[in-house]
Amino acid sequence: MTPVELIKKKREGATLSEGELRWFITGYVAGTIPDYQMSAFLMACFFKGMSEVETLTLTNLMLHSGIVIDLSETPGTKVDKHSTGGVGDKVSLILAPIVAACGVPVPMISGRGLGHTGGTLDKLESIPGFRTSLSLAEYKAVIRKVGAVLIGQTYEIVPADKKMYALRDVTATVECIPLIASSIMSKKMAEGIDALVLDVKTGRGAFMQSYERSLELAETMVRIGTGFGKETVAFITDMNQPLGTTIGNWLEVVETVECLKGIRGIGDGSGDLMEVTHVLSGAMLMLGKKAKTIAEGMALSRASIQDGTAYNKMLEITEAQGGDTSALENLERYPLSKYTMEVKTIEPGFVGEIDSLELGLTSITLGAGRERIEDIIDPKAGIVLSKKVGDSVEGGDTLAVLQTDREAILEPARERIRNAYRIQSSPPRTRPLILSYVEKGGVKTWM
Ligand code: URA
Repeated sequence: MTPVELIKKKREGATLSEGELRWFITGYVAGTIPDYQMSAFLMACFFKGMSEVETLTLTNLMLHSGIVIDLSETPGTKVDKHSTGGVGDKVSLILAPIVAACGVPVPMISGRGLGHTGGTLDKLESIPGFRTSLSLAEYKAVIRKVGAVLIGQTYEIVPADKKMYALRDVTATVECIPLIASSIMSKKMAEGIDALVLDVKTGRGAFMQSYERSLELAETMVRIGTGFGKETVAFITDMNQPLGTTIGNWLEVVETVECLKGIRGIGDGSGDLMEVTHVLSGAMLMLGKKAKTIAEGMALSRASIQDGTAYNKMLEITEAQGGDTSALENLERYPLSKYTMEVKTIEPGFVGEIDSLELGLTSITLGAGRERIEDIIDPKAGIVLSKKVGDSVEGGDTLAVLQTDREAILEPARERIRNAYRIQSSPPRTRPLILSYVEKGGVKTWM
């Protein structure tokens, strides 16, 4: 077998055997197969796809390219949640303490923000002192002690994905469902979990913009998780406007704290955020065997906010990972951006749409995200939304407030945000936030 023969076989649309895939992937990780041959292989996969068995085999090979964490010392059914990424999506920050407070351990290995979507790690690191690069021993100790831990991917976990994802990023081979599914699921299977809840975003601000592609990705990932013996369910949720009212790292921590305290999240702009949070938490609590149904899990999730246990768990997690809990308890002490600017409407009407992709991209220019992996984030920077889809507005009303240290960016950013809001004369049709629920038995429309 030579790399060229194998690439040609895939190029012609043939199905590769386990032995062939193993030889190619292990050769690539070991450095005997160069980037240019892996690039050609990835492009062949992009155009010809991969069978279900090939996708499962690829996931398994990637998973075992590094260590697979064993959390058997931690009692209970360990459940994680993964989102394919959205704008203003701080669900992980709220849901991890909720689910842990309800008695289900949550081991979470998350990513950084790149492109228009933010990353959980950057949000957490805006809390002074919060460490997301823990050793494996620390990871195990924190989950055992507080019931939740949130860290970044380490070099020991799925090294094949680290190398392949970086290559896909620069060879236009990211948007391929078998490659995305095997990349995400190999990392999730390495965390030491027993079950997994997936949030596959769909719409303008999502990785997969069409419902059909989002569903295909969700079904593929549910099949992979189930194939590995981990109960896996997925929700397809709307990303046609940002979740909640904040975009930007510390701003999202503030919204998280206020939602965990129950000050926000009911009947206000954070209502959609908390709806998604409670549904996903409810599913995690069901998979974690603390509730018989998702609805029962959602009731536990809501109760953990009301009785303060979820907020206290957030403080415990922060302390265990070196963060300064007084920053969470005294939100007003955090440094402010040098400049703020309001974005106002010109005409009256109703907010019909908010282009979340455009808001995500604009927040990067304000300093809240990265254009390149080495860029430094300004934790204070971002956008606070005053109006969301369905709200009525008068001419001159504030739609959003920009926060940044970059004065020169303010004017162009204001124009972009104003154009990202579509104001129409009649109220928009209400659309469901949670579209479908996918489990091994099939797809259901959600409520
Ligand atoms: N996120 C991942 O981890 N991998 C992909 O391929 C796409 C998104």
